Amino acid sequence: MAMESLKREIRQLLLERRAVMLAHNYQRDEIQEIADHTGDSLGLSQIAAEADADVIVFCGVHFMAESASILSPEKTILLPRMEAGCPMADMITPDGVREMRERYPGGAVVAYVNTSAAVKAVSDVCCTSGNAVNVVMSLPADVEPAIMIPDQNLAKYVADQVDREVVWWDGYCPIHHQYTAQDVLEVKRAHPDAVFAAHPECRPEVLALADHITSTSGMYTFARDTDAKVIIVGTEQGVLYRMRKENPAKTFIPLSEDMICPNMKITTLEDVRDALVTMEPVVKVPEEIRVKAVKALERMLAVPRD
Ligand code: 13P
Ligand code: SF4
Repeated sequence: MAMESLKREIRQLLLERRAVMLAHNYQRDEIQEIADHTGDSLGLSQIAAEADADVIVFCGVHFMAESASILSPEKTILLPRMEAGCPMADMITPDGVREMRERYPGGAVVAYVNTSAAVKAVSDVCCTSGNAVNVVMSLPADVEPAIMIPDQNLAKYVADQVDREVVWWDGYCPIHHQYTAQDVLEVKRAHPDAVFAAHPECRPEVLALADHITSTSGMYTFARDTDAKVIIVGTEQGVLYRMRKENPAKTFIPLSEDMICPNMKITTLEDVRDALVTMEPVVKVPEEIRVKAVKALERMLAVPRD
């Protein structure tokens, strides 16, 4: 009951503030339930760029709120918990990008959106798990190699899909990278009729066992369209909420009960309410960084989904 009145309070505050609430697919169930839009990193950045609102409450992690600030500098971007970060995004700095450029002078830097605004500002183009193959294919033919940062697993997956040279930074997502082929085989043994959908942040040996490799939003389409009745889900557990709601006749098995991103789960309804009341904490990318970073993000948004 207390939760229901909190949800009503948030919806009322959203109206009063002319605010839109965005939630990543990994957020807590109750946050996803009342958000105006849920989505993957690509979908949410498209919505952030187009939303007709004065305020965006971003329920996700810091780099996502930064992307919203880069694309919509006139809007107030609230990140209800400022400490919600992404350990993989912290694995590369602008100095790391410069190092890669020195090593590969003819290349173009393709920055996963899971990077800071400062890193985006020194990159050529961004990508997400939903468009990485098309972004790399969209690079001019004389650019060689594609320098993918910071996720080695996404880069190796893309390298497998494209007919051009790809090199990478050796970052990784601690949540996805911890699982091995052995873990997948154990779950498959327990569910022999299941299909396996995996996020490209998983290790190559895990992806080699997948029936489908896709972004978090791509997983919903796969869950709906597959004839299989049991689906093993190789990504953070937040996606299970909508998968189960939309497919009541199917069974969804997490690759592991521990596949949870603490940063994505830190934001509560109380935090969202407090952010809308106090209009804090605000994420605002400094203009000198923003004008450079926006080029990489806009170049990405011009490329279609994979
Ligand atoms: P998506 O872009 O697929 O939503 O992934 C974001 C992310 O942080 C995955 O760990
Ligand atoms: Fe970052 Fe991994 Fe969490 Fe995604 S799941 S926000 S990549 S730590």
